Amino acid sequence: YTDTTRELLLSRIKDVQDYPKPGVVFKDITPLLADPEAFTALTDALAELCVKHGATKIVGLEARGFILAAPVAVRAGLGFIPVRKAGKLPGATLSQAYELEYGTAEIEVHAEDLNAGDRVIVIDDVLATGGTAGAALELIRRAGAEVAGVAVLMELGFLGGRAKLEPALRGAPLDTL
Ligand code: PRP
Repeated sequence: YTDTTRELLLSRIKDVQDYPKPGVVFKDITPLLADPEAFTALTDALAELCVKHGATKIVGLEARGFILAAPVAVRAGLGFIPVRKAGKLPGATLSQAYELEYGTAEIEVHAEDLNAGDRVIVIDDVLATGGTAGAALELIRRAGAEVAGVAVLMELGFLGGRAKLEPALRGAPLDTL
């Protein structure tokens, strides 16, 4: 992962003012996804992290995390496990609630998809408050699997997600491209 790649990725993320509400600057990754060179560079960089951290399975977080994690799983030759918003998975699930700015949310995974002996890396587009990633780490551990790390394209540093996630990481790496 070089500075050139970093610059390419940065140049394809668009700041959208006042979306989804006034005062918020939304980081839009659709220009990056539409550029095959940038999307490939991102996929390669994330796949490299999976290898580096000895991951054996990849968890993607609905919905934008799916877009990034699926090609990484194919590239790295690892299974892709979807962590979905509550109520979307048909089989027996483990659920984890977490705090939002106002209220709570819940995510789920198929219980049979994660097991003892798995080393799981979590992939997402953005780490904001860290709530979603933290809940995903809980799910992985409750399933008996090990956390290999969390890898995201962007981290919104001013929201303090890294510090909030720290206890849940228990020493596992958090990589931000
Ligand atoms: C966004 C983003 C992360 C999460 C980060 O997803 O893709 O999953 O929020 O926020 P946090 O660190 O504060 O938990 P969102 O829930 O907007 O869903 P989407 O990907 O389906 O648009």
